[in-house]
Amino acid sequence: MAKRIVVVASGRGSNFQAVIEALQRGMIPAACVALVTDNPKAYAIERAEAAGIPVIVVVYAASASRESYEQALLCALQEARPDLIVLAGYMRIVGQAIVREYARKMINIHPALLPSFAGLHAQRQALLHGVKVTGCTVHFVDESLDGGPIILQRCVRVMDDDDEDTLAQRILIQEHIALPEAVRL
Ligand code: GRF
Repeated sequence: MAKRIVVVASGRGSNFQAVIEALQRGMIPAACVALVTDNPKAYAIERAEAAGIPVIVVVYAASASRESYEQALLCALQEARPDLIVLAGYMRIVGQAIVREYARKMINIHPALLPSFAGLHAQRQALLHGVKVTGCTVHFVDESLDGGPIILQRCVRVMDDDDEDTLAQRILIQEHIALPEAVRL
């Protein structure tokens, strides 16, 4: 039976799109059975609808506390019965209960060569440090911030005239290669 992939995304969803296209090309013998999002306005929702992928919205503000939000998110994930959860631009920290339930079954894409520049604004951090090479990392999610075991990385050279946007764009091109490849692996 085809493996069941659930993607969790908060925004634009270009990495989600890269996974959709890899599935459509037959590069990954699996099915994306749901998009789960915390953002009812996420462009990722339109991408899911265009690909015929069911969407589950779990709104943070609709929950009384962080714990009840995490519980609602866990229920949504359980209902989708994932073999693999792909965090593709999910802009929240995943709670302990979910991390434990899906240990080694949840991966994340980060726009830097971890363990450098974890957390937000990874491209800005790279520019401020003056590194000459950065990139992207796909890693398993554990209880640390962007610190789980690394699956694969791709490098990007930093140019002298790069700003945050130009660097982010070049990293994104590599993300769109790295994420489907990690999902396939
Ligand atoms: C990507 O840079 C990803 O590495 C980071 O958030 C961004 C999401 O972009 N975690 P998109 O929504 O996939 O276009």
